[in-house]
Amino acid sequence: MVREWDPRTAPSAEIDTMVRALNATLATDLPEDPTWRTDSFREYLSVTMPGERRISWIAEEAPGSAGAGGPRGESMLGAANILLFDEMAVLEVLVHPDARRAGVGQELLRAAVGRAHSEDYETLGVEAIGGTPAVKFYEAMGFECAYMETRSVLDLSAVDWLQLGEMASGVSAGYRIEYFPGGPPEELYESYAAAKYLAQSTVNLGDLDLRPSSHNADRLRASLRTLHMRGMKPYIVLGIHESSGEVAGLTEVVVAAQHPDRADQYDTVVVPEHRGYGIGRAVKARMLFELRSAVPKLKSVQTWNSFDAEGMLKVNSELGFRADREWREYQADVPEIARRLGIAG
Ligand SMILES: CC(C)(COP(=O)(O)OP(=O)(O)OC[C@H]1O[C@@H](n2cnc3c(N)ncnc32)[C@H](O)[C@@H]1OP(=O)(O)O)[C@@H](O)C(=O)NCCC(=O)NCCS
Repeated sequence: MVREWDPRTAPSAEIDTMVRALNATLATDLPEDPTWRTDSFREYLSVTMPGERRISWIAEEAPGSAGAGGPRGESMLGAANILLFDEMAVLEVLVHPDARRAGVGQELLRAAVGRAHSEDYETLGVEAIGGTPAVKFYEAMGFECAYMETRSVLDLSAVDWLQLGEMASGVSAGYRIEYFPGGPPEELYESYAAAKYLAQSTVNLGDLDLRPSSHNADRLRASLRTLHMRGMKPYIVLGIHESSGEVAGLTEVVVAAQHPDRADQYDTVVVPEHRGYGIGRAVKARMLFELRSAVPKLKSVQTWNSFDAEGMLKVNSELGFRADREWREYQADVPEIARRLGIAG
């Protein structure tokens, strides 16, 4: 039985069950990944950027059904949500490992596709991690792979801090590196957003229709505020071009209260005209130093790169990141998948 579920008002016991289902999924699909905590998990599920909406569902045993007390005595079999942006919807589906291959995933997908279709969305995107059943599931459901990345993980206990020190200070004359926990200072927002815009216009996104990003100062402000509200703290290191005072390069790492021992590397970009001066390497190396003292319990950092991001892959391997898994983005045409699933439109 699938029902719409609102994480803002759900009982705490359901939030806890959801975290347990996620951790059971991780233990099965990504056993090398750290488990998640309940800290700020409700906020993680309920807060969105202004103008975006997340709609969630859970699948559970029908009350009084013969098999009551589903996986390991839990009633929750799985969960799904769609995040509705301006032009596309992004899906997540998770089925407890003990409840798989019984059609639960498909039932949750029907609920999500039905809503995306009734709200006239044309495209539904979803992430599927290489080497997990999600790849076969989405392909069986009619999704197509639009983009592939590699995840890499840096184990902080294996970092050569001496070598890293040289990298952090190896930036050419005319630039300085600055660290801002929480977000950039107000006077640098415009320049920060412009740097992201200039750098990302050179990135090849394959067949992907749209990637939400923060290319203007207002959107950037909202995005950082949203992160904080979801229990995710951003750490920023900037490469500043001294004569103009402009942001020449930047790197962003987020430490989430839900998995504080594994940080997420967000964007690292260097504006095209400032490339070749050691800024990418220096901002990333400085970030690791800052994280070591700001978040002493942190054990690892994960990052995602497209296969053609040669420069960034080189910097990452110098820092000690090791390629780990393929990360795929799938897409489906909503009217088409609705037809396949027999959803009337
Ligand atoms: C992908 C996932 C949602 C599928 O859920 P499910 O309830 O097992 O899927 P269904 O039973 O509805 O499967 C529907 C169809 O998808 C395909 N499929 C699903 N799992 C498959 C697998 N392991 N191998 C091959 N095909 C598979 C099959 O065609 C299946 O139909 P069939 O069983 O009649 O052959 C589930 O495996 C899951 O939660 N994975 C983790 C996803 C995730 O979020 N990971 C990230 C955090 S670790």
